[in-house]
Amino acid sequence: MTPYDSLLAELPITPKTWLITGVAGFIGSNLLEALLKLGQRVVGLDNFATGHQRNLDEVQTLVTAEQWQRFQFIEGDIRNLQACQKACEGVDYVLHQAALGSVPRSIADPITTNDTNISGFLNMLVAARDAEVKSFTYAASSSTYGDHPGLPKVEDVIGKPLSPYAVTKYVNELYADVFAKTYGFKTIGLRYFNVFGKRQDPDGAYAAVIPKWTAAMINGEDVFINGDGETSRDFCFIENTVQANLLAATSGSQAARNQVYNVAVGGRTDLNQLFAAIKQSLANNGVSYAKPPVYREFRAGDVRHSQADVGKAERLLGYASKFDIQAGIERAMPWYISFLK
Ligand SMILES: NC(=O)c1ccc[n+]([C@@H]2O[C@H](COP(=O)([O-])OP(=O)(O)OC[C@H]3O[C@@H](n4cnc5c(N)ncnc54)[C@H](O)[C@@H]3O)[C@@H](O)[C@H]2O)c1
Repeated sequence: MTPYDSLLAELPITPKTWLITGVAGFIGSNLLEALLKLGQRVVGLDNFATGHQRNLDEVQTLVTAEQWQRFQFIEGDIRNLQACQKACEGVDYVLHQAALGSVPRSIADPITTNDTNISGFLNMLVAARDAEVKSFTYAASSSTYGDHPGLPKVEDVIGKPLSPYAVTKYVNELYADVFAKTYGFKTIGLRYFNVFGKRQDPDGAYAAVIPKWTAAMINGEDVFINGDGETSRDFCFIENTVQANLLAATSGSQAARNQVYNVAVGGRTDLNQLFAAIKQSLANNGVSYAKPPVYREFRAGDVRHSQADVGKAERLLGYASKFDIQAGIERAMPWYISFLK
């Protein structure tokens, strides 16, 4: 039995109250679904900046009526301290996901990204500290590795940020560390590496690569590759990310707290391979796409290669990724086909 299997067996017996910020988003709504299915009580906070009511509605269809009754949604903004305080009342574990994602969005509008990702983050830290929650687990980012060329990425060797977004995510880590030291507060940062799966938004200028390409292929539109296609990433299926959050929040280990962890698989897939994998998986599901990809300029702020060393999360949290990119794509494609058709 893995540590995660034990946790999945234990949680329903001793239900806790969890706050998920950004609950109407991609990762937040998947955390919501997992926790409700485990019989937990969940408070969700979101202002629908990039999240959607449809994500919450979909989760409602996937859980029982009794499980859904354990969910309380607060429409509110993390830039408002009172909203954060209200959301933290009576909470055991905070999973802080709310932020404005996307490197290009942060380049286009650094001020709103900063307000949300730094001021909003600080509000949540203060509110969670004052509510005396058991732990504060937050979405950090692989963008923190910035211009450091080393591979695979290990947590304590980072470069300079390449975008305003990366600055905000690094500042989160600095604040969390200072709060841990100054107030004796348990914080854990999870540096996500290109998470993907159901409910990741395929629409809009700032959509992530897998949903964007999948939607383009399903709709018979051009797929654009920024650069030569050899840019690579450690794509991480959402179920691995959910696992890391649950293990981090509930970890009782002193050594595990007040740390940051890579959350990924430890693999590396370039964009040309990704294109082929999505195309093949769609074909397996009866959707064929015949066009070649269209290559265009590299995108500003993008890291060239990214691959995680997940040894620290394995050692200290008991994390063990269960899905590689192929297994994740096979699970995600049927959802996109039914969502988009
Ligand atoms: N998806 C990835 O690959 C990835 C990689 C690294 C880090 N992250 C981080 O993970 C977290 C979740 O990302 P996601 O992919 O689910 O994105 P998402 O956009 O789907 O979810 C973010 C959620 O936060 C909400 N939100 C934004 N601003 C808010 C505010 N001011 N007040 C309240 N709610 C607000 C949005 O409405 C949305 O529901 C973010 O912190 C993101 O930076 C994601």
